[in-house]
Amino acid sequence: MRNLAGAKVRAVAAEVADAVISGGQSLDAAIAQNEHRIIATDRSLLRMLCYGSIRHHWQLQSWIDQLVSKPLQKRDRVVNALLAIGLYQIVEMRIPDHAVVSETVEAVRQLKRPKLAGLVNACLRRFVRDKLATASPGNEQSEWNHPGWLIETLQRDWPDDWHAILGANNERAPMWLRANISRNTADQYVQRLRKTGIDAELIAGIGEAIRLGEPQAIENLPGFASGDVSVQDAAAQIAARWLLSDALSGKTPVRVLDACAAPGGKSGHLLELGGEQISLLAIDSDESRISSISENLQRISRDATIIAGDASKPKTWWDEVPFDGILLDAPCSASGVIRRHPDIKLLRRASDLAKLAACQYAMLEALWPTLAPGGTLLYATCSVFAVENDNVTGQFLGNHDDAIENHVLPNNNIRDLMQRKTCGFQVLPGTAGLDGFYYAALQKKKVS
Ligand SMILES: C[S@@+](CC[C@H](N)C(=O)[O-])C[C@H]1O[C@@H](n2cnc3c(N)ncnc32)[C@H](O)[C@@H]1O
Repeated sequence: MRNLAGAKVRAVAAEVADAVISGGQSLDAAIAQNEHRIIATDRSLLRMLCYGSIRHHWQLQSWIDQLVSKPLQKRDRVVNALLAIGLYQIVEMRIPDHAVVSETVEAVRQLKRPKLAGLVNACLRRFVRDKLATASPGNEQSEWNHPGWLIETLQRDWPDDWHAILGANNERAPMWLRANISRNTADQYVQRLRKTGIDAELIAGIGEAIRLGEPQAIENLPGFASGDVSVQDAAAQIAARWLLSDALSGKTPVRVLDACAAPGGKSGHLLELGGEQISLLAIDSDESRISSISENLQRISRDATIIAGDASKPKTWWDEVPFDGILLDAPCSASGVIRRHPDIKLLRRASDLAKLAACQYAMLEALWPTLAPGGTLLYATCSVFAVENDNVTGQFLGNHDDAIENHVLPNNNIRDLMQRKTCGFQVLPGTAGLDGFYYAALQKKKVS
């Protein structure tokens, strides 16, 4: 009997993957747009097929290139994506080969390409019969499942670590939580989790961070709705402690700016740690994301002034009262979080980097006058590329006599998670299960 539901998930997954590969759409947006078309119980399979086939795109495509005598026509690219999803299931998922073949062939019909059913059937059968999965990868791109420019940039920036970075990018990321320190310590929250049968552990040096043994739906996390805990990678949790360890030293209340705040993850952490001692202004230029900041703060019962504004144009939103601390969590290539967003490998271009770096530098320049003497601006990106990180902060320090780097870390254990750069520090993706993140603390000299 034909499994129509199984074929439907695969057909929708192919359309989603094709929207990313050919249409340049983000994977999460494409899934959100299409998942209503399948039954709720099939949606985790849909995510698995889409994420997996995008993560392994280059390897899967090299096999397809060997299997088809000439590339599929432009209008049939969705069938190419379906074939990749079929191969992905054969190689990476525990689905019997015969089930993959029959459901994929049925999915070709659902995609209204019945004439290509025979080709898909023959390709999948030959792949299994000739054991093509064991053939050596044709080139570096298919070996590492990354585009050439990304491999080359990592080889240049990280001559000793590029293998490890590429390997980590192809893994599935663990789920990290942040205990709300104003309600419970991380240790106390881990006990709560264990009582509900959820395995979790702490990490030295990142006080509120909890790593789950297995990812969970947020509904399973005790006290999530009332703000006892939030979902946030541990590397991102370094920001608030670092900024406040500088900004809170001695002086209260302190005025803090979160210059690129949406969806408010780090704003929430700043407020949980700082309590009544800090007043926070959270801005973001994307009006459609502003409400996500207030929703996140509401859940943890915290308050901030939230403004839709452009960080590189303070004249439009700044009241001329200097900030004691600024967090600039700048928009970037997101090359440090590829394991969470494998579509970055397809959507980002080498040519984006110079534009991003120019925008990051412009934000630093524009925000610097809003920082009080003695105050700290913590520059952060979730990128691993020097051009967006130490090149930007190094150039800034070279151009500003009143700026020095403060390289005192919030605690010694964090030192083990980071590599020192010419300016700032880098967490590489996969280190202790963390996302890739870059930080540099820039301090404004006191006026003598
Ligand atoms: C890395 S995300 C920030 C994540 C956030 N800090 C958190 O922890 O939840 C970067 C943000 O910068 C915002 N952004 C981009 N250009 C901006 C600009 N010129 N001014 C202010 N925000 C900007 C984007 O809309 C995006 O929300």
